[in-house]
Amino acid sequence: MKETFDIGLIGLAVMGENLALNLERNGYSVALYNRSTAKVDQFLAKAQGQHFGGAHSVKEFVSLLQTPRQIIIMVKAGQPVDDMLNQLTPHLSQGDIVMDCGNSFFEDTRRRSRDLAAQGFRFLGIGVSGGEEGALKGPSLMIGGPEDAYAEVGEMFKTISAHVQGKACAFHFGPDGAGHYVKTVHNGIEYADMQLIAETYHLMKEALGLSAEETGAIFRTWNHGELESYLIEITGDILKRRDPETGRPLVEMILDKAAQKGTGKWTSQSALELGVPTPTITEAVFARLMSSLKAERLEASERFGIQNLPYAGDKQVFIQALHDALYSSKICCYAQGFDLLKAASREYSWDLNLGEAASVWRGGCIIRAQFLNRITEAYDRDPNLPNLMLDPYFLAILKKSLSSWRLVLSTAKSLGIPTPSLSASLDYFDSYRQAVLPANLLQAQRDYFGAHTYERIDKPGSFHTEWLE
Ligand code: 6PG
Repeated sequence: MKETFDIGLIGLAVMGENLALNLERNGYSVALYNRSTAKVDQFLAKAQGQHFGGAHSVKEFVSLLQTPRQIIIMVKAGQPVDDMLNQLTPHLSQGDIVMDCGNSFFEDTRRRSRDLAAQGFRFLGIGVSGGEEGALKGPSLMIGGPEDAYAEVGEMFKTISAHVQGKACAFHFGPDGAGHYVKTVHNGIEYADMQLIAETYHLMKEALGLSAEETGAIFRTWNHGELESYLIEITGDILKRRDPETGRPLVEMILDKAAQKGTGKWTSQSALELGVPTPTITEAVFARLMSSLKAERLEASERFGIQNLPYAGDKQVFIQALHDALYSSKICCYAQGFDLLKAASREYSWDLNLGEAASVWRGGCIIRAQFLNRITEAYDRDPNLPNLMLDPYFLAILKKSLSSWRLVLSTAKSLGIPTPSLSASLDYFDSYRQAVLPANLLQAQRDYFGAHTYERIDKPGSFHTEWLE
């Protein structure tokens, strides 16, 4: 009798390969398919003696699977996912489960969920974080789709995911696009977290004149405290690496133009759509765009000819202030991300568990950090917390760090060193804690030029003034 496999996986780029190896290591037999079939043969040749099978056509691939079939698609987000689904579905049977583990746009996942459900198939959209290593050793998995399908595959995902304190970093967040949405917000936070660290490094370098090695040592020290996280850890590693060709710090040989694949942008687009302020995240997206204007920046730097000045105060005090500013800004960035999750949960009726989002991000993923435990605890204390900054733990940190935070930003502004995400974070905090903002004047202006009316502070109702007397 022909051998059948537990699970099928389509797409043998590095993430797909590593996920396949992870599944097999955990006792699942895996059938493989890739558009360029030579990849399948190469993989099988390397993995002899392991429980893999391969196919050279979609039809053959489908025939290798036990029913109801469980198929993971790990191809480039966008049209390639639709193309693959179109090739796959004619060969499937009712009730088969198809799982998209790419970085798909959540609206695409919602559409695909509807389309596949209408054809009698079950579709899961799964956000996978952790890069190549995560996929191999245990990623963080954010799952969305029908309950009954999750009931059949949930155990497998919990087994192959990262674990923190015995708990799997895999969670079913809700129907259709819920998992991919949580992954998108994860990436928005990732962009902001990275940008905040980069700005902190820039201040150390420009304001304090520290070398890459010295900045690296500071990040490595910080990784033993409240800021402990994967991104701080890798920053410490990166800054100590030397370029073998020139002997200079490798980071200084890397062109300062940041690329992006779009997930940070989707987070900001969704925030605008849902009316949620996410300035730290959005400034991080803008900062990447600004970085890409390298030629213009070079020209402008020559034309303006302004030198960034060094900081004249106490270095050690400033380094501690940078630590506090980074931590406070990070709290703002997560506050924005969780606010966005809450708004999306309402909008799409997902009933997202915010504490679980923090929990699955504790291990395996790029934003994994010690302080995510504190976020889970905050939502355990109050599941309806209006904003993370109001949780007693975070509120106390923000209050305590405030003067350091202001020192960093006033210094950055006076020295002319750009800090888009750090600045946006302090403005977010300062705006949020204001009882009165100047929006009264905006309302008056709107009413002046467009008779848009305004509310008053002393009585209910809608008012209009004939401003031109
Ligand atoms: C992860 C990452 C990953 C992402 C890369 C690159 O969680 O493992 O978020 O999914 O694709 O980090 O993203 P950008 O190219 O947009 O920076």
